[in-house]
Amino acid sequence: MQSANVVIPFYSSYGTTHRLAEAVETGAASVPGSTVRLRRIPEIPSAGEAMSGQNAYDEAQADMADIPRIERDDLRWADGIIWGTPTRFGNMAAQVKQFIDTLGGMWFDGELEGKATGVFVSTGSIHGGHETTVLTSLVPLIHLGMVFVGVRYSTNDQIMTTEGVGGSPYGPSTMPREEGGVEAPMPEEVKTARSLGERVTRVSARLQASEEAPAMSSA
Ligand SMILES: Cc1cc2nc3c(=O)[nH]c(=O)nc-3n(C[C@H](O)[C@H](O)[C@H](O)COP(=O)(O)O)c2cc1C
Repeated sequence: MQSANVVIPFYSSYGTTHRLAEAVETGAASVPGSTVRLRRIPEIPSAGEAMSGQNAYDEAQADMADIPRIERDDLRWADGIIWGTPTRFGNMAAQVKQFIDTLGGMWFDGELEGKATGVFVSTGSIHGGHETTVLTSLVPLIHLGMVFVGVRYSTNDQIMTTEGVGGSPYGPSTMPREEGGVEAPMPEEVKTARSLGERVTRVSARLQASEEAPAMSSA
């Protein structure tokens, strides 16, 4: 098995996406030879000001303070990139988009082309946009030339479910379920998140040996 470097950049206001990110990290780290970095996408000051003062927000931010901030060099280092975001009006959070919008130079140089990618989300309600958030997040990732990896139904227990549990073929998801989301993710959601982490890592290793590998495509 070829080794793979995987980075998990995520943004979280209240901690739910953070906990789902940890499950993705566990899955990625379970692949022999993998090296995994969990990285925090920074707050936008004006957005943070609007939320600070709420207990759940302040506690979650304090909880994540020691996680290193994502840097563009983390993306250069990685063979696979798994993005985490809360749903904001059916889309990724502005904090994540703002970071992606700093990648123009990397896009121009094709630095992210051929890297495996996936998306996991936290969404406030069952019909609030789990799937749209992943699908709309895909647009910039495709522009950047990455290779999208979803969740196989054979590792997604949510097939045919009628329960209020996150997770779809597009990517793992969860719901806060209460202020601060302390009960999320549920065990089924953790399983799906781990499976994406593992799958992106395995695909990353395979892509390194293929014509999609960044070093070869820029040669
Ligand atoms: C500005 C804003 C927009 C939101 N839009 C949606 C939405 O479209 N659908 C939804 O179900 N929840 C929505 N939510 C709820 C968030 O998805 C929820 O707070 C998030 O999943 C919590 O994740 P976190 O704990 O990682 O911050 C929104 C929240 C905010 C603050």
